Amino acid sequence: MALSALICGTDPWKDLKAHVHDIEKTHLRELMNDVERCQSMMTVFDGILLDYSRQCATLDTLKKLYNLAEAAHLKEKINRMFNGDLINSTENRSVLHVALRAPRDAVINSDGKNVVPDVWKVLDKIKGFSEAIRSGAWVGATGKVLKNVIAIGIGGSFLGPLFVHTALQTDPEAAEFARGRQLRFLANVDPIDIARNIAGLNPETTLVVVVSKTFTTAETMLNARTLREWIITALGPQAVAKHMIAVSTNLTLVEKFGIDPNNAFAFWDWVGGRYSVCSAVGVLPLSLQYGFPVVEKFLKGAWSIDQHFRSAPFEKNLPVLLGLLSVWNVSFLGYPARAILPYSQALEKFAPHIQQVSMESNGKGVSIDGVPLPYEAGEIDFGEPGTNGQHSFYQLIHQGRVVPCDFIGVVKSQQPVYLKGETVSNHDELMSNFFAQPDALAYGKTPEQLLNENVPRHLITHKTFSGNRPSLSLLLPSLNAYNIGQLLGIYEHRIAVEGFVWGINSFDQWGVELGKSLATQVRKQFHASRKKGEPIEGFNFSTTTLLTRYLEASSDAPKEDCTALPKSYL
Ligand code: F6P
Repeated sequence: MALSALICGTDPWKDLKAHVHDIEKTHLRELMNDVERCQSMMTVFDGILLDYSRQCATLDTLKKLYNLAEAAHLKEKINRMFNGDLINSTENRSVLHVALRAPRDAVINSDGKNVVPDVWKVLDKIKGFSEAIRSGAWVGATGKVLKNVIAIGIGGSFLGPLFVHTALQTDPEAAEFARGRQLRFLANVDPIDIARNIAGLNPETTLVVVVSKTFTTAETMLNARTLREWIITALGPQAVAKHMIAVSTNLTLVEKFGIDPNNAFAFWDWVGGRYSVCSAVGVLPLSLQYGFPVVEKFLKGAWSIDQHFRSAPFEKNLPVLLGLLSVWNVSFLGYPARAILPYSQALEKFAPHIQQVSMESNGKGVSIDGVPLPYEAGEIDFGEPGTNGQHSFYQLIHQGRVVPCDFIGVVKSQQPVYLKGETVSNHDELMSNFFAQPDALAYGKTPEQLLNENVPRHLITHKTFSGNRPSLSLLLPSLNAYNIGQLLGIYEHRIAVEGFVWGINSFDQWGVELGKSLATQVRKQFHASRKKGEPIEGFNFSTTTLLTRYLEASSDAPKEDCTALPKSYL
């Protein structure tokens, strides 16, 4: 395929490349003085304010980015997604996570069939099942109420639900509904994660949910077999039917595993793993913990953003603006990373979730047609809640590398604290940092300012801040289930926008396969060496040396087939 078919061959791309020079001449300090510009770079939707005035961009840059969006056929691509077209072409699938949060009367087709009734069939089943568990109508094998849930899953079958759970945990309404209940997540195949998950839990009062789209993921299936053993050891084999349920697209394998198909909750191949938190993957464990009505509010928040994304003009469209600005930062200004900095401890698992959504979606080296990209796509996402991050990696962000930052703030704290005699409330203290950091990055501090402050000459360069470091701010009115859904929708669609502009397939993940297949070879070698004493074969010098050392140093591991579960460490 000719280069001109790639976005970098279009005039708007070339125009933006040339425009970088203009922008590099202007410091954010000057840009921030232009109040009209700043006013135009703020937009509000459904209570959420986006301020992107601290981007190294002018209104002219925005115009050029809209031209780029047009050249990339962004509008058509968004429509194709909502229309259920097979836009995940390497897997021949539609991409319809938006259908997971659609109201009952919506019509969203995949393969000519409205999928919304199927979605609601599963949601209704979750509602009924979670109510039965929560009310004690469904009890465990020994007649005890199931108050604890361990959700086993990894990647998209873990990170999204963990993010939402962590965010809801301290929301007063959700917390009230979760009183006396526990939700834990077992993701890593590391036996330590098993030990941590079962610590202090009694199998009699525990429900295990195995969450796996494919029901073949090695880590999840070994963890599922381990917890099945934990239940059987304590309660006998017949207890599995009462204590283990599943979420999967592969109901045949669920049944083979020994879970009653009536206790399996389906989803569909048009839901990507990392986009599955609004399917039973997230809705089931979260409903067990918080009750279905709270989770329904979360779905409504995401759906509100879906509608906005589909219909709002690009100049007011939060995910589109965020996506285009990310492309500007990565592909034109050359900043490969993005820091996600929520000023809310409740959002501590947001960055890890977005890491997967973004990096698994857009970490690609070829176009959707398989053409190697002559430009970088994707970005390195990382983040921590403020103010913790400030005392960790912000040094680099202020005086080292330039990392465009997303500051996410919340007007009303989930858990306000006021102390008599303090200058400000605890939340205001937190938010002082949220409002100060973007300006520190944008304006910096000049040597002249330092000299005026009588800073010793030998420290001037050390204490200088170059400024001109881009950021954007998202201000949420509060952090309830609805707002959490909104935030999820904004980021999911932003990442899709970036992929649509880069011309890649943001919905496949072939890059995770090679490591998996090489691990299979090592697994076989472990079995052969440990059980049959066979020599290490077929690996390079380095791996052979490492394997030899590992096997020799752990030769006290049992040779006979046996079961040994983690010892309690409490
Ligand atoms: O890491 C690769 C991956 O396929 C992710 O895309 C997915 O979220 C994860 O594994 C878990 O897959 P599954 O839900 O099929 O167990």
